[in-house]
Amino acid sequence: MKTIVITGGAGFIGSHVVRRFVNNYPQVKIINLDALTYAGNLANNEDIAGKENYQFIKGDITDLEFITKFFDEYKPDGVIHLAAESHVDRSIRDPFSFIKTNILGTVNLMNAAKNLWGSNVADKRFYHVSTDEVYGSLGETGYFMEDTSYDPQSPYSASKASSDHFVRAYHNTYGFPVVISNCSNNYGPNHFPEKLIPLMIHNIQENKPLPVYGKGENIRDWLYVEDHAAAIDVIYHRGKTGETYNIGGENEWKNIELVTFLCQLMDKKLGRDLGTAEKLITYVTDRAGHDMRYAIDAKKLREELGWRPSVTFEEGLEKTVNWYLNNREWLAAVTSGEYQHYYESYYSKL
Ligand code: NAD
Ligand code: DAU
Repeated sequence: MKTIVITGGAGFIGSHVVRRFVNNYPQVKIINLDALTYAGNLANNEDIAGKENYQFIKGDITDLEFITKFFDEYKPDGVIHLAAESHVDRSIRDPFSFIKTNILGTVNLMNAAKNLWGSNVADKRFYHVSTDEVYGSLGETGYFMEDTSYDPQSPYSASKASSDHFVRAYHNTYGFPVVISNCSNNYGPNHFPEKLIPLMIHNIQENKPLPVYGKGENIRDWLYVEDHAAAIDVIYHRGKTGETYNIGGENEWKNIELVTFLCQLMDKKLGRDLGTAEKLITYVTDRAGHDMRYAIDAKKLREELGWRPSVTFEEGLEKTVNWYLNNREWLAAVTSGEYQHYYESYYSKL
């Protein structure tokens, strides 16, 4: 039986990737390796927890001794690496944890895999899941292509860019069998409510202010999380070693337009008068170094591997809102404790 380790599988995107691989590849053992930081939540894996080809291991990718023992014991054939510190605002406050997890953690994993696999890499693969933020910020026109120069602007994106460089360096120097993807903003079920869409859904439910940074004119390219998981599946199995693939929804929204659209949808779903949620919109101090626009050109992935998004933004957003309304206990659990402390200390200063 082949073994694939998925790191960060208890987080937002990782949990969708784990579910997809466990269900689609019953002949492959899937190990979810996750440290269960504030962003990791085993409730995200509840539905597949009892499956025979699934195992959860709690572990920290920054702990080299643990990672070395883990690779010796489980001898994985493949790694899909999603574990990371992922929130830009947190990276502005504490860059060091991003350096540690995103750079050191990635190199620890690659080194352990390199030591295990040696030169015997024909059927081995290290898939590094990265972000479009490594390319920096776009003006009003243009798109991020796979060969766009790196120009990261936040401590988060600088740490992800650095990890991408290490992944390419391992391929170039040691012939290490890597593949990389850089994806745009995801949304969907299980998204931690520090990020724009779930934060707004949560605050609308609670009748709390909706904090829009600056003038709300920044643009993001949104992709439904299950479509990202599908792209990862295709790239893991059919992508070319050493290559990079950009993944995006080709679905650009100005923040304020997105928030307004979400307000209208939530009013409808909650049976409130149209316009109720919009009154909660509150412009707050802009994010430091706020990237203006991200937009992916996903032509390579579409043309070479035949992937395309399966849902429109309207469908995906409705599925997302329905999920949050049907899973209020999930939201209540993750918004107590650490989240409350973070929310109050961050937003009270804006
Ligand atoms: P997330 O913050 O929801 O989840 C991260 C997961 O990693 C959590 O389960 C956490 O417990 C785990 N983790 C953190 N530090 C760890 C450590 N030291 N050892 C082991 N596990 C650890 O993140 P996400 O939004 O699901 O993003 C997953 C990956 O996808 C990240 O690499 C991110 O850079 C990338 N990405 C995210 C987006 C997005 O829109 N969210 C878009 C493109 C790329
Ligand atoms: O582009 C991919 C990236 O998308 C991923 O690599 C990151 O892990 C992920 O967090 C996301 O980064 P963003 O910074 O774009 O996402 P966030 O949800 O934090 O913010 C989206 C936009 O909304 C951004 O322009 C900032 C704005 N915003 C965000 C929050 C949390 C607000 O206006 N108010 C808010 O309260």
